[in-house]
Amino acid sequence: MSGEPATDSATAQWYRHFGTIDAPGSSPCYAEWTVGIAGDAELIRRIDQWPHHKRQPLLILAAARFLGAQISPYRDFRNFLDQHWAAVSEIVLSRSTQTNEAGRCATLLPSLAQISAAESRPLALIEVGASAGLALFPDHYGYEYVPEAEDARTTLVPAGAQPGTYPVLRCVTSGPVPLPAALPQVLWRAGIDLNPLDVRNPDDVAWLEALVWPEQEFRLERLRQAIAIAREHPPLLVAGDLNEQLAALAARAPEDAALVVFHSAVTAYLDAGGRARFRRTMADLAAERAATGSRTKGHTVLAQADGSTVVPEMDDTRLGGRFQLLQDGQPAAIAGPHGQSLEWL
Ligand SMILES: C[S@@+](CC[C@H](N)C(=O)[O-])C[C@H]1O[C@@H](n2cnc3c(N)ncnc32)[C@H](O)[C@@H]1O
Repeated sequence: MSGEPATDSATAQWYRHFGTIDAPGSSPCYAEWTVGIAGDAELIRRIDQWPHHKRQPLLILAAARFLGAQISPYRDFRNFLDQHWAAVSEIVLSRSTQTNEAGRCATLLPSLAQISAAESRPLALIEVGASAGLALFPDHYGYEYVPEAEDARTTLVPAGAQPGTYPVLRCVTSGPVPLPAALPQVLWRAGIDLNPLDVRNPDDVAWLEALVWPEQEFRLERLRQAIAIAREHPPLLVAGDLNEQLAALAARAPEDAALVVFHSAVTAYLDAGGRARFRRTMADLAAERAATGSRTKGHTVLAQADGSTVVPEMDDTRLGGRFQLLQDGQPAAIAGPHGQSLEWL
C-alpha cells in the first residue's frame, strides 16, 4: 500500500476537479456530493476497488440516482450509498456513461444543412457511438439560435409537427454560423454503439434519465420529448465496435443521399490505436464512396471535452470545457458540451 492518504489519490483529485470545476455552474448537488466524496477516505478506497474506467464521477452519481437518490446534503447521500452499496456497485459495473444529448443537434445542424445544400441531396446519417440514437433526428427537432451580441433570433421548426411535440433546442451563437433557412431532409438514419440503448425499454430510459444532472430539468424534458420521437420512429442501431461495423453499415446507406458520418462525445472512449484506426476507416470510406461515383462525402464531427489528447488542434484554455467541432478533419467551431452554444471559427 502506498503511504498517500486516500483523499489525495488520483481518484479523489478526479472527484474534487469534477466538484469544483465541472459541476458548480450546472449542478450544485453534484458539486457538493463529489467534493464530499473527494474528502471521504473510506468511500474513495471502495471506489478504487472498481476498474479504472468505472471510477468516473458521473457513473456512481447516475447509479445512485437510478436507484432513487434525491437532491440532498452530502451526509444523506453518503447514508444512501451505504444502504444501497451492493446495488450501486452492480450498476456501476454493468452500465456505462451513455448520456444521449439531443441538444447537440443544434451544433451539428449548420454543418448538416451545408452538406445537403452543397450536394443538392437529402442526407443519410450514421452516428458512431449513438447511445439510443437521439442525435439521429435533427430534422424532427425545433431550433432557436440566439446571437450572443444581437437582439435577434432564428427559429426553425420541423415541417408539419405540432408545437409541444418536439424539443426546441436553444443555442447561443457567435461568429459567422451558417444558419440554414430550413431543416435538411434526412432520407435514412442509423447508428452504431457498443451497447445501443432501447428507448422502448423502461430500464434503458431510466438510465438515460439518471445520466441527466439533477437541477437540469430542461434537459430532462428535452430528453423525454426526444425519446417520444425516437419511439415513434425507432432508429436502426447496430451493436458493436464502431471500427468493426462502420464499413458494412455505410454500405446499407442509400446511394441517392449524401452520407454523413458523425460522432459526439465518443472518441474519449477509444485509445490512441482505436482513434487512428477510425481515421483510416473514415478515409477509406470517403475514397470508396467517391470511387463508386456516388459523390458521397465522408464527414466527421469530432467533439470531445478532453482537448489535450483527442483535440490536439486547439489548446484547452481556448476550449474551456467546450467541444471542438471538426468538418472533414478541419476545426470549424467550438460547441457547448450539451449544444447550448456554437462559436463559429
Ligand atoms: C457519452 S455517449 C454519447 C452519445 C451520443 N453520441 C451523444 O452525443 O448524445 C458515448 C457513447 O459511445 C459508445 N461507445 C464508446 N466506445 C465505443 C466503440 N468503440 N464503438 C461503438 N460505440 C462506442 C458508448 O457506448 C456510449 O453510448
